[in-house]
Amino acid sequence: MTDTMPSDLLDHARRADGFMPEDEGALLHRIARERLPLGPALEVGTYCGKSAIYLGAAARAVGGTVFTVDHHRGSEENQAGWEHHDPTVVDPELGLMDTLGRFRRNIARAGLEEQVVAIVGQSTTVAAHWRTPLSLLFIDGGHGEQPARDDYAGWAHWVDADGYLAIHDVFPDPADGGRPPYELIYLPALASGAFTEVEAVGSLRVLRRTSGAAGDPLL
Ligand SMILES: C[S@@+](CC[C@H](N)C(=O)[O-])C[C@H]1O[C@@H](n2cnc3c(N)ncnc32)[C@H](O)[C@@H]1O
Repeated sequence: MTDTMPSDLLDHARRADGFMPEDEGALLHRIARERLPLGPALEVGTYCGKSAIYLGAAARAVGGTVFTVDHHRGSEENQAGWEHHDPTVVDPELGLMDTLGRFRRNIARAGLEEQVVAIVGQSTTVAAHWRTPLSLLFIDGGHGEQPARDDYAGWAHWVDADGYLAIHDVFPDPADGGRPPYELIYLPALASGAFTEVEAVGSLRVLRRTSGAAGDPLL
């Protein structure tokens, strides 16, 4: 059995707006195929569903469910005046970003509504009520200091034994990009002693939980 993205869904992933290069998406898809038979995956940072299509395609292939959390109001860097702003995803009445509609359309077009479940809300609020072990956690939410700190504190301990913690936009060299995912998610995960790095493509790092189990606090 191949573990690569099926070509029909790769086309959908390519067409979706977002921030997931194809080689990194392929890695995400492969690790999701490995883990999804063992329990659900959760993504923090849906945006318009680009990475969720790579994850959902894995669920279509091997079974399983992908939860994806976002308030759909955009990160700091998505707001007007910032580098990653797209004015076509601003709600004209509210004057606020709203990526939920575009996400729903992308997932419906890809035929992944059974596999990909949207959770609309603040990551911290959802995490505070979350109790389910995760076979795979993909953190790609807010890239500022507080959101990165919150996503690590709220979610990383839900990764099950042998499960994966995948982190996007990890840049050890400051010349390549922002620091919070590297300093406040990746480094603390390694320093906790609970995770070991197993793979990396581009800015996507994949760590495996090599000690403890879901729900155990991380040091
Ligand atoms: C980098 S984008 C995600 C990109 C997406 N994974 C892709 O493949 O295109 C980050 C997303 O995180 C969301 N986000 C930022 N801070 C959040 C928070 N505190 N709670 C929920 N979502 C948040 C933003 O709304 C934005 O859609």
